[in-house]
Amino acid sequence: MKKIEIATTLAVYDSLDELPEDVQYLMQRSFKARDAAYAPYSSFHVGAAILLENGEVLSGSNQENASYPSGLCAERTAIYYAGANYPDIAIKTMAISAKAMGKSTTKPVPPCGACRQAIAEYEVRQKQPIVLYFMGDAGQVFKSESLENLLPLLFTQDYL
Ligand code: THU
Repeated sequence: MKKIEIATTLAVYDSLDELPEDVQYLMQRSFKARDAAYAPYSSFHVGAAILLENGEVLSGSNQENASYPSGLCAERTAIYYAGANYPDIAIKTMAISAKAMGKSTTKPVPPCGACRQAIAEYEVRQKQPIVLYFMGDAGQVFKSESLENLLPLLFTQDYL
């Protein structure tokens, strides 16, 4: 028996102001998307903004349902929109922000496991990393240079 170690490195910015201007803009777009979250059951609002290689920005927010599992996270709402409408244009960056209503969310909120798997599919498909930035509604911003950093040992079509 031997052990393998899997390490991940993230960049940490102390606040939105520390980010390059174009990323600040993308994160602001995620704030705007978050305003359209439909989250009457969790009161947890999430926004995701995607920068495509052609410069266009797409966004999505979480959409909940009285039948809870039918709802969808912001990241998948956004990335499936990109895949459905811009199948041949690479996704460069995704910015994610989240806020629990009624309180401040200062801890960076990462994409959930299901969203990581969904984003991974597009990263593998386009053979180009998707850079991710994520935060709460204020405070630190984490940056991952690729989705794979957040989902080691990812399951892909190679196994099928
Ligand atoms: N949610 C997201 O939109 N993205 C995530 O990565 C985590 C969770 C949403 C799903 C649900 O509407 C609410 O946040 C609470 O889980």
